[in-house]
Amino acid sequence: MIDGCIFDLDGVIVDTAHYHFIAWKRLADELGITFTEQDNERLKGVSRMDSMSILLEIGGLHMDLTHQTELADKKNVWFVDFVEKMQPEEIFPGVKQLLKKLRSKGVKIALASSSKNARRVLQLLDIEGEFDAIVDGNMIINTKPDPEIFLLAASRIHIDPKQCLVFEDAEAGVEAALAAGMKCIGIGSMQQLGKAHKILSKTADFDINDLSTF
Ligand code: G6P
Ligand code: MG
Repeated sequence: MIDGCIFDLDGVIVDTAHYHFIAWKRLADELGITFTEQDNERLKGVSRMDSMSILLEIGGLHMDLTHQTELADKKNVWFVDFVEKMQPEEIFPGVKQLLKKLRSKGVKIALASSSKNARRVLQLLDIEGEFDAIVDGNMIINTKPDPEIFLLAASRIHIDPKQCLVFEDAEAGVEAALAAGMKCIGIGSMQQLGKAHKILSKTADFDINDLSTF
């Protein structure tokens, strides 16, 4: 039985995954690195600095950590520029209603995002109060695919990991959820997220009557 639902943020609740891509692409262009949406799949769910390393690996470039940090900071400024213009209407249709429905059924709700900007995004979408617990990139050491973030989220809502259902759009996130011993719904394509227990194209497609099937 599922007693807790844990949501990733970028690409699950709102399309900030696209803003991350545009910002990384701009940096890649500056560095002369060819960077496609397919390449971007590897960056989803992982921390800012791990994303930086993957981008450099894709481009076959090497640089010291100070320079990498400067570039990652620059990418973050571009990303935050997009974020600060966000309106509450940008939340994916039906997601706020889903959160409310789950809570009205007594299901505990947590957010687990590797992003250090997660809380700000929730504030701008006006949904910070919809969660029983919020865990973000500032609170963990190891990012997805390590299970740390999901285990911390489960402990914050006091639910056994086996009774948690994770909503994830990243391959690294699906792996993290499975490593945590949780059930997982992949939001996106079977090709990318095939290891998840179920795939949906949109978060709001989840039918709360299906909770008992996991
Ligand atoms: C999420 C996104 C990643 C992003 C990471 C760090 O996991 O899926 O694409 O790189 O958060 O985000 P931040 O806002 O801290 O740079
Ligand atoms: Mg995501």
